[in-house]
Amino acid sequence: MGRLNVTLCGIELDNPIIPASGTFGFGYEFAEIYDINCLGTFSFKGTTKEPRLGNPLPRVAECASGMINSVGLQNPGVHKVISDELPKMRKCFHKPVMANISGFSVDEYAYVASALDGEPDIGWFEVNVSCPNVHKGGAVIGSDACASADVVRAVRAVTKKPVIVKLSPNVTDIVSIAKSCEDAGADGISLINTLLGMRIDKRTRRPVIANVMGGFSGPAVFPVAVRMVYQVAHAVGVPVVGMGGVSSAEDVVEMMLAGATAVGVGAANLVDPYACKNIINDLPGVLDKYKIGDIKEIIGGVKNG
Ligand code: FUM
Repeated sequence: MGRLNVTLCGIELDNPIIPASGTFGFGYEFAEIYDINCLGTFSFKGTTKEPRLGNPLPRVAECASGMINSVGLQNPGVHKVISDELPKMRKCFHKPVMANISGFSVDEYAYVASALDGEPDIGWFEVNVSCPNVHKGGAVIGSDACASADVVRAVRAVTKKPVIVKLSPNVTDIVSIAKSCEDAGADGISLINTLLGMRIDKRTRRPVIANVMGGFSGPAVFPVAVRMVYQVAHAVGVPVVGMGGVSSAEDVVEMMLAGATAVGVGAANLVDPYACKNIINDLPGVLDKYKIGDIKEIIGGVKNG
């Protein structure tokens, strides 16, 4: 075991770095430029029961220190993911992968999880109840503690694999939602998804994003993510995957001190496709800088007061 190893819901990772869903495709796209087996794992593109074309264009807006997206869960649907995407993925990635799943009803989440459950490459389910870019499902479910718990329970019932629920920051009380998911059987919590944002084109006076609003991510959201990871990690007994604006090995250390067992990297992959590889390479030097022997030592290590 090296000094970067962590264990996430019973599965060993070579390091805590996990490219976040929606920023890393099915991995094979990035395998064209580097060996993605250096990653802890990655969370694949959010998958729904039916194929989805996503939201109308434009669906991306630039912001200072971040971006807004309103992709709208574009994906080929679970059956094409199984027949076309996973075979391409497994040619270049040889570790357990995280399956990010979405739905528009409790039954759809359970359907997708059940369809994917037999795929041997899948180590964890990441149940996304936090997409801000759909008008049904997504964050509509994730902003309600009972509805989130219902989804967790339904997915839990169709798989023995670890179920990690991905939560939205666009809520008043993140802790009560996280606890309700834990009580419903979640093995882990990942957070944060994007913050709901909006830009306006001053010439046309129209929203830049066709769907009006979208999810804001990037370095600007990092302090919000650290705060929410801290709150949730101190309130639940299951591991937390911390994400939101992480773009350096320094950020990884901070996120783990807040309580994260593993760390998602999202928007940074869109700025620099080598971001995750660079973060992994930089981690030993940053551990040395702060006199940290083994990365596991720092999980939840923030001192209060
Ligand atoms: O619009 C999207 O596909 C985003 C998904 C998410 O943020 O969960």
